[in-house]
Amino acid sequence: MEISKGVDGMKNASVGIIGLGYVGLPLALRAAEKGYKVYGFDLDRKKIEIIRSGKSPFKEEFIEERKEFLSKVNASNNPSALKKADIVIVCVPTPVDEKFYPILDPLLSATEIIIKNRQPGQLIIIESTINPGICEDVIAKKFSEAGLREGKDYYLAHCPERIDPGNKKWNVTNIPRVLGAMSKKGLAMAQKFYESIIDAPIKPMGSIKEAEACKVVENSFRDINIAFVNELAKSFDKMGIDAKNVIEGAATKPFAFMAHYPGRGVGGHCIPVDPYYLIERAKESGFDHKLLRTAREINNSMPIYTVEIMQDLLNGIGLAMKGTNIGVMGLSYKANIDDLRESPSIKIIEELEKKEAGIVRFDPYIQSMSDVPDLKTFLKKCDAIILVTNHKEFLEIDPEAFKKNKIRAIVDGMNCLDGKKLKKLGIQYHGIGRK
Ligand SMILES: NC(=O)c1ccc[n+]([C@@H]2O[C@H](COP(=O)([O-])OP(=O)(O)OC[C@H]3O[C@@H](n4cnc5c(N)ncnc54)[C@H](O)[C@@H]3O)[C@@H](O)[C@H]2O)c1
Repeated sequence: MEISKGVDGMKNASVGIIGLGYVGLPLALRAAEKGYKVYGFDLDRKKIEIIRSGKSPFKEEFIEERKEFLSKVNASNNPSALKKADIVIVCVPTPVDEKFYPILDPLLSATEIIIKNRQPGQLIIIESTINPGICEDVIAKKFSEAGLREGKDYYLAHCPERIDPGNKKWNVTNIPRVLGAMSKKGLAMAQKFYESIIDAPIKPMGSIKEAEACKVVENSFRDINIAFVNELAKSFDKMGIDAKNVIEGAATKPFAFMAHYPGRGVGGHCIPVDPYYLIERAKESGFDHKLLRTAREINNSMPIYTVEIMQDLLNGIGLAMKGTNIGVMGLSYKANIDDLRESPSIKIIEELEKKEAGIVRFDPYIQSMSDVPDLKTFLKKCDAIILVTNHKEFLEIDPEAFKKNKIRAIVDGMNCLDGKKLKKLGIQYHGIGRK
């Protein structure tokens, strides 16, 4: 491909996007918005139908605002259109299995699809989160097995996506990027493309491995810091110290401290998953990431810890967990979105089921998984509540409403409710690291 066409020199270039999820769909819309001819490909027929009907398959303001471009994504489950693309961007999932081992099947399948539907000189960009070495040792290897050489038959680059679904300030248009490629030409082509769609700095890295490593480092950094405050919450709880207040106090130091807050565990497709990619990759090279493994263990323990707090609160008022109606308030892993992936609510519900509690699920963003139609009915049905997600609808609840609905105990998994007021109303309250 000669990068001399079109928008900033690329207008006539076309872009194929493999995987139209939280990462791929906003990117596809952005490319279409910037005038690229887009070919969206996904294996999920239902998702394709929804996009073709002009709707978003999930709730995301960025997509709602660009609905008119959904038809320009040319969403299809037939990969043959990828042949027409000058640039193919891979946005497929990179999850872990039940033993936390990276699952590369979607990435391998996408690579095979590209090889089968390629055109000479195509630029392939991986946006999925991967560990250092995947581009060279796995993807480029597949190409070379097919007799294709990087820098001649195709170009390979990696530009990890940092999108934060539901974030109103930061999106695919303005989040700075890091970029790595196997060859100088591939790097130059990819940089030109991203500069044409993103209004933020693009940092070229010294190698494709460095770009791969950036993303797992960013998310591991977050996981470790959250694990630290979660551990503090458990320890401070025993000492009767309010962890949230302490963190806010420490955060008044204007340098060398970054506030992270404890909670009922981490969720989503990134934080609870990506560190395992680094752990496993390092293991292959003979290095044991002890700190990362410990952080993962601490954060994985938080949903059970949250249920244990509920158990203690109920014991304190002479109620057994068995048969008590416990409301799970919020199911998604973070506020104001409908993403359930790796959400702590899943483990919390499993734990409550083991203890034979009566469970009432409610999430205004995930009606299909809710046991009740609305918040009013939810409050009426519960004896006690575990707040899992700090959705704006829950922050607006008047504490008196809990009292009126005879809620006896609340575990505030996000430390976002007015605990003092709830306690004054005679409700048993306990946050994570605060009483
Ligand atoms: N969700 C986030 O917040 C986020 C942020 C940054 C990076 N990432 C990374 O981006 C990647 C994608 O994440 P996502 O959240 O968009 O996932 P997603 O599950 O929302 O979307 C992935 C899409 O890929 C499709 N797919 C799977 N295998 C395919 C194949 N072989 N061919 C075509 N389509 C296929 C799925 O049907 C799905 O629609 C992951 O590596 C993730 O770690 C995610």
